[in-house]
Amino acid sequence: MLEPSADEIRDWGNSAIQLITEYLGGLRDRAVYRHMFSRRIRDRLDTALPRKGTDFDSLLKVFREDIIPFSRQNAHPRMFGYVQSPGIPLAAFADLLASTLNANLTVWRSAPAPVELERLTIDWVRQILGFNAEAGGLFVSGGSMANLAAIAAAREAKGDSPGRLRIYASSETHFSIAKAAALLGIGRENVCHVAVDEHFKIRTKELIAKITADLEAGYVPFCVVANAGTVNTGAVDPLAEVRGIADRFQLWMHVDGSYGAFAILAESTRKLFAGMEHADSIALDPHKWLYLPVDVGCVIYRDPEKARAAFAHEAEYTRIIGEQGDETFAFWDYGPELSRRFRALKVWMLLKGVGLDALSQAIESNLACARHLESVVQDSDDFEMAAPVELSIFCFRHVPVQLRSQSPKALDAFNERLLIALQRDGSSYLSNATLGGRFALRGCVLNYRTTLRDMEILLDDLRRVARSVMSSEQA
Ligand SMILES: Cc1ncc(COP(=O)(O)O)c(C=O)c1O
Repeated sequence: MLEPSADEIRDWGNSAIQLITEYLGGLRDRAVYRHMFSRRIRDRLDTALPRKGTDFDSLLKVFREDIIPFSRQNAHPRMFGYVQSPGIPLAAFADLLASTLNANLTVWRSAPAPVELERLTIDWVRQILGFNAEAGGLFVSGGSMANLAAIAAAREAKGDSPGRLRIYASSETHFSIAKAAALLGIGRENVCHVAVDEHFKIRTKELIAKITADLEAGYVPFCVVANAGTVNTGAVDPLAEVRGIADRFQLWMHVDGSYGAFAILAESTRKLFAGMEHADSIALDPHKWLYLPVDVGCVIYRDPEKARAAFAHEAEYTRIIGEQGDETFAFWDYGPELSRRFRALKVWMLLKGVGLDALSQAIESNLACARHLESVVQDSDDFEMAAPVELSIFCFRHVPVQLRSQSPKALDAFNERLLIALQRDGSSYLSNATLGGRFALRGCVLNYRTTLRDMEILLDDLRRVARSVMSSEQA
């Protein structure tokens, strides 16, 4: 098993490909999710520490019978929960090829062509965003790691300052920013959350007031984080205005575009991102709205030398000997990781294989699905929107006629029960958000397979499941 023959490799490949085609072909017929218990899954797995090996067909059988059915089907067109990409078959092949080559993208000499491919692909991402020609960055595991790397660079750029450092971000900002502040020793408490307006965008007057008050109190403001698509509602902060405020107070401007920034590729939302290209850094997630399978996040720095100051570290065993110029390039100088997977291969295959035109169309179609749901909800008498749709996230509540006179609290509790019942039903999957203190059903269209009809099926599923929730409560 450690070193199979060429025939064995071919046989394994054929069996695996057969499984992949069956799986993808039958996606729509599967439940997105089924209710399961940890014990039941564990009972199916042979837990004995293996002394002897097992043939490939038996391993594949476990994957087919015990893993796939007991997983949430993230590629399903009605998987609307969280910010979940569906993956693309092309990237599954890229991952297979990357693992076969097993390139380790630490430094140029360790993986010359893979490093060049990552640098090229990062530059394509830079061009998509419209950043300056000198900007650069790298692929990381995801948006959380990209945010951490950017905040580390921002702190380094501030240099030594007496007084507590402060970061500013709207109250809708993803928790990975506070986590990064905690891990970097800045402290969670030094992330100042600024209130949002009725569109869930940062209130810039309040941002200015908070920075001014902190300066007077002796704090050291150093960074403002703007959202290019918040996780709850998809709100895009006024990026050009935030840039102006960052300049006025000499702050590093970081954009968290993990969910939304690639919607710059869609004509109908492009203008929302004006000013994003002037940020000092941006966190992105190709494993969100570029549809790629986890894990691939990305951080781009306007001035990569500032990141280098944060991450470069001298060690004898990594000292670059005998190379000069471009061949001395080291990714470890720009991010937290040393050993790094060949993530760039799947991003390159996607951009080169699919092309920007088809990606723009797919993103536009996702936006249209979310807008369609919003308009159907607004025309209905049994649903209400809980937030405006800005990108492909939609937040709403079911208000069946029988419950219309109930208090907001009772309606929220009903929607929470409905969400759990919907998830267990399996036809559609939503997650939740708390907006202005109220519970909301929350969905995010992030799958090129999703159609306008799927949005209508979702509402029908909710009505059907709600009836059974109400009748079981009356019984
Ligand atoms: C706006 C935003 N930022 C950051 C993250 C974290 O990304 P990741 O899960 O790739 O670490 C998410 C995840 O949903 C997000 O929506």
